[in-house]
Amino acid sequence: MHTLLVVDDDPDVLATLTRSFRKGYKILSANGGEAALDILNTESVDLIICDQRMPNVDGVKVLTHAFIVQPEAIRILLTGYADMESLLACVNDAHIYKYVTKPWIPDDLNLTVVRALESLDLQRQLDIARQQLESAYQETVVMLCLAAEGKDQDTSSHLHRVRYYTQALAIAVGVEEKEAIHLGLMSMLHDIGKLATPDEILKKPGKLTDEEWVIMKEHPMAGVRILGNNPFYEVAREVSAGHHENFDGTGYPNQLSGEAIPLSARIVKIVDVFDALTTKRPYKEPWPMVAALENIELHSAKMFDPKLVVELKKLFENGTLERINELHG
Ligand SMILES: [Fe+2]
Ligand SMILES: [Fe+2]
Repeated sequence: MHTLLVVDDDPDVLATLTRSFRKGYKILSANGGEAALDILNTESVDLIICDQRMPNVDGVKVLTHAFIVQPEAIRILLTGYADMESLLACVNDAHIYKYVTKPWIPDDLNLTVVRALESLDLQRQLDIARQQLESAYQETVVMLCLAAEGKDQDTSSHLHRVRYYTQALAIAVGVEEKEAIHLGLMSMLHDIGKLATPDEILKKPGKLTDEEWVIMKEHPMAGVRILGNNPFYEVAREVSAGHHENFDGTGYPNQLSGEAIPLSARIVKIVDVFDALTTKRPYKEPWPMVAALENIELHSAKMFDPKLVVELKKLFENGTLERINELHG
């Protein structure tokens, strides 16, 4: 059942409003602005019908406050007279749904309330559906990565650390938070192209022959093919294609250099190497973070974007890298 808050300092008006909506709704009533603010601070409401002219706290103030504390709730203003200034304030500050002049036609107000609540319900359903869809595709990415796990030396903990290192480094260089979170998720797919690399090459204990290297180096573009052409995976394709490019143009597969390599791929490259250095692999012991960063600095402007080298070091100094490593070790 929806909850309606009705507000008016005139007891007769308040009684009329309460009576006309009692059936079918839970009614909360306030006999003035102050009482309305108290209710808005403590109870969740779906729709507010509020008188404009009240002593001390008027309708504009109540509805503006409602917009701040319960933005989802629908706001309807009742006005006894056409006061242009307060109407404008209501539209601009309180983002009201509708204003209704006194005396109102009961059926009209009823219909307004019904329609408004219908659109509120629809919006809520859409929000739930969007959230479900969002978590479904996020899980799909993780599932795909887990399915690919075992093909390579990469483990799911490597992928999770790459995810959060990527996210943190992206935020550090000014990428907007939402975009950085998405980039973090997409970074997990950087080596998905290794699904197409034969096991004899991926798991070969010794050095690869020149021919085997040629095949190994196909994994960035194999990843791009696996990731298809859905716009949602655009960043993942950038990362897959570009995570073995070097800043000085000596990498593969396209010998891109500098900012021609997408920022997403430059970020994933540096954190991928950082994580490989700082974790145990079949052929090596883990390096301390300081040593790994020193090594990365040696390759600044050669393999890595120098700006990112500096920012990664800062993330080490402020403890971010250690925190992520502990959470996903
Ligand atoms: Fe790779
Ligand atoms: Fe990796």
